[in-house]
Amino acid sequence: MKVRILGFGMGPQHVTPEVAEALRGCDYALAVQKGDDDSLLAVRRAVCEAHGVELVVVRDPERDRSPGLDRAGYEGAVADWYDARLTAYRDVLEERGGVAAFLVWGDPSLYDGTIRIVEELGATIDLEFDVLPGISAPQMLAARHRIVLHQVGKPVHVTTARRLRHDVTSGQNNLVVMLTSGVDLDGFEDWHIWWGANLGGVGEHLVSGRVGAVRSALVEARAKAKAEAGWVMDLFLIRAPELPLEDSDGAA
Ligand SMILES: C[S@@+](CC[C@H](N)C(=O)[O-])C[C@H]1O[C@@H](n2cnc3c(N)ncnc32)[C@H](O)[C@@H]1O
Repeated sequence: MKVRILGFGMGPQHVTPEVAEALRGCDYALAVQKGDDDSLLAVRRAVCEAHGVELVVVRDPERDRSPGLDRAGYEGAVADWYDARLTAYRDVLEERGGVAAFLVWGDPSLYDGTIRIVEELGATIDLEFDVLPGISAPQMLAARHRIVLHQVGKPVHVTTARRLRHDVTSGQNNLVVMLTSGVDLDGFEDWHIWWGANLGGVGEHLVSGRVGAVRSALVEARAKAKAEAGWVMDLFLIRAPELPLEDSDGAA
């Protein structure tokens, strides 16, 4: 049995010729459905339709979201849900065999659990897998704002909104921030931000400038993106004021 983990960017327009060829050689693609109206599943469906591959949909198992759960209860609920999802995938793979594609939003190397899931499936099923890259959200952000993510010869730190303050306290001053949901930017007023929502899809919005000057525009744009698409995914590059903006367009 073979599993191909395929990054497809943000939709059919980003599918590389390499991924397209791999997809056409698969017997089916596997995806989870979250809720009744899963817009991201609709994008995966469009990718499959564009390349004539059957999409096998696995209903995402219910997770215990009881408000009264303590930390141990929460961790147990997440572990149960994760195991149930693994079992659901395993059932399909064992029943159908062949060559299966896992379609990964953006690129499999960034904040995506598919490689780990397939490795775990490989512990009980005899399978081999490979990974093909896709266009990631940070790449889209940089392209849309027509910027380089770092200054000449300098680093960029990729992190999550939850870790932003911790990472800044540790000395990071040029960060791509993902997994954002209503980020608190208090204290960053003098930093420069390049923000984007729903890049490459319905409800795409961009905002850039000094945080203090664009904060309300950003909140409005985020709300608009959500209203237009029914969902919102956003990320941003944020840079400390002591780093000049001018030399940010050179090669390393
Ligand atoms: C689970 S991570 C997946 C990232 C993906 N593997 C990639 O390569 O970009 C999802 C996060 O990526 C960012 N993201 C993904 N797609 C996006 C899009 N179209 N527009 C803006 N941000 C996006 C958001 O920060 C979102 O919370």
